[in-house]
Amino acid sequence: MKVPFGDMKLHYVAYKQEIDQAVHRVLESGYYILGGELEKFESDFEKFLGAGYVAGCASGTEAIYLALAAEGVTTGDEVLVVAHTAVPTISAISMTGATPVFVDIDPNTYVMDVDLVEAKINEKTKAIVPVHIYGQMADMDPLVEICKKHKIMLLEDCAQSTGATYKGKAAGTIGDYGSFSYYPSKNLGAFGDGGAVSTNSRENFDKLVMLRNYGQSKRYYHDIVGINSRLDEMQAAILSAQIPFVEEWNDRRREIADRYNRGLADVVKTPIEEDGRKHVYHLYVIQTDHRDELQEYLLEQGIQCLIHYPNPAHLQKAYSFLGYKPGSLPQTEKVVKRILSLPMFPELSNEQVDAVIDGIKSFYAERKSTNAKMTASVS
Ligand SMILES: Cc1ncc(COP(=O)(O)O)c(C=O)c1O
Repeated sequence: MKVPFGDMKLHYVAYKQEIDQAVHRVLESGYYILGGELEKFESDFEKFLGAGYVAGCASGTEAIYLALAAEGVTTGDEVLVVAHTAVPTISAISMTGATPVFVDIDPNTYVMDVDLVEAKINEKTKAIVPVHIYGQMADMDPLVEICKKHKIMLLEDCAQSTGATYKGKAAGTIGDYGSFSYYPSKNLGAFGDGGAVSTNSRENFDKLVMLRNYGQSKRYYHDIVGINSRLDEMQAAILSAQIPFVEEWNDRRREIADRYNRGLADVVKTPIEEDGRKHVYHLYVIQTDHRDELQEYLLEQGIQCLIHYPNPAHLQKAYSFLGYKPGSLPQTEKVVKRILSLPMFPELSNEQVDAVIDGIKSFYAERKSTNAKMTASVS
């Protein structure tokens, strides 16, 4: 049985009526940028989060940039962040001129190790950007405390965690800001690029709205230096149409994760969901010593798995100027050699999930019998 890593076409076909209606409504309105659809989406997403204000923008990368820029983060400043993330988290920090300073991760949950944070804070530190990677939130209570104590900004990178919670609070509502990506495969995805910034203050929201639209306070009056980063009406309408389904999709992701957990707990290291944190499994990531062989074996059977991410940000060529050497983030460097993301999307059938489980089990069974034969022939 073929199991793709994702299937956007299947998603479209399943929600064709809602998507088509949204698209046609926008096409016929004759209004495509900064209109009623965006306002509706922002208000719908605020309700979804249950707190704060939401400003749509063009991508998750620019959401991070806009939040940092709203706080005046700039050249000479330092921003604490993990290297175990999608590189755009780091690109966005670089766009402000600030220097990313990397903090290692907890190898069980893959999020920022909060015990390592304070040692990296100095007078240049202006922000901490924990990434709620794979769909599980970072340990927010200690981070909130550290940021209050040192008077620095807390920006949650929620690109992979729409709908996740920490002690009942939604991702993006605990820090000063949250950044979201609506890249098509995300838990809530556009049919193109899109993003948003959430914030707990009206003042921050007003600034974000200016920053995303050339710094204008009103047409042709530019009060601050801004950029063009808008969520267009088409994407806003498509996103609004899908919000009512996100909880249901996240529940299905959790059901799939549970099925994988039960099938695989004895063969590989399965994801850990911390107490008080609701994991929404944007990605279902296992750890194994035999990652590359397993990935290849599964692919031969038509099962597509990916690695998020094989090369951490601090060792990327683009960031070599920061001077990090192999060995500087031991936990990050250890897990990137062992992680494998299994197919995970709401439309995945139980039969497909079982085919992945069976594929992994047969890989280990074949390995065991080959090893046994080799041991027998040597002795
Ligand atoms: C953790 C994380 N941060 C930031 C981004 C950037 O989002 P976008 O692709 O919408 O710019 C992504 C998406 O790839 C992501 O996964």
